[in-house]
Amino acid sequence: MRKPFVAGNWKMNTDSRSSVELAQGVARGASGLAGDRVSVALIPPFVYVQSVVRAVSSTGVAVGAQDVYIESKGAFTGEISPAMLKDIGCNYVLCGHSERRHVIGESDELVGKKVMASLGGGLLPILCIGELLEERDAGQTEAVVTRHLETGLAGLSVDKMSAVTIAYEPVWAIGTGRTATPQQAQEVHEFIRGLLADMFDKKLADEARILYGGSANAGNAKDLMAQKDVDGLLVGGASLKVDDFVKIIQAAA
Ligand code: PGA
Repeated sequence: MRKPFVAGNWKMNTDSRSSVELAQGVARGASGLAGDRVSVALIPPFVYVQSVVRAVSSTGVAVGAQDVYIESKGAFTGEISPAMLKDIGCNYVLCGHSERRHVIGESDELVGKKVMASLGGGLLPILCIGELLEERDAGQTEAVVTRHLETGLAGLSVDKMSAVTIAYEPVWAIGTGRTATPQQAQEVHEFIRGLLADMFDKKLADEARILYGGSANAGNAKDLMAQKDVDGLLVGGASLKVDDFVKIIQAAA
């Protein structure tokens, strides 16, 4: 049985006060569920990670970072290492979010190195993959997802891979209000699981958690979660409101 997983990607939102209030509100609303029946992670901007870690300490809610660098320390101005995140109580990290790939310009290869470095530093990576609208329209969804998985997971043993979560986020659905239909999500999730079986083995593929992301909200969470291969949700906009995010956690549980 795969435990459902709901993660809230706050992106470049909140401030020092609202991040703590949001974290406390979610921990309160999800108590009895978070950690037990559903894995829950909050993913604030770097500068608020530590205060969010404190705000949710001894609740079942975990904390993640939105990005990480590939080296453990040294002359890399502006970057944050896996060891630093681990040091302040952060457990998860997003690797290859579409905004990092398409706005900041991260390559597939760099994303793969981030997954590897995160695992080396004891973090649990959430590898984000997904196609652009023009790629979907051109029938390239499976090719893009395959490329993202093969480069993102390059060189990982089955053992290491078991610590990785996959998030399928079609770029055309992110922040657009245009959610993939549950059937569209299921189709790609099933394809991803098959690919994981080919790349690693069937047992690992059966146990791997594959999240859907892209305009997931309190209204559509249940239908998305009802799909056989949808194991959780990576939520952007709707993770910024306590009530909405708690409803999504409840739907997942
Ligand atoms: P959204 O963002 O829920 O606002 O579409 C999802 C994501 O980018 O992870």
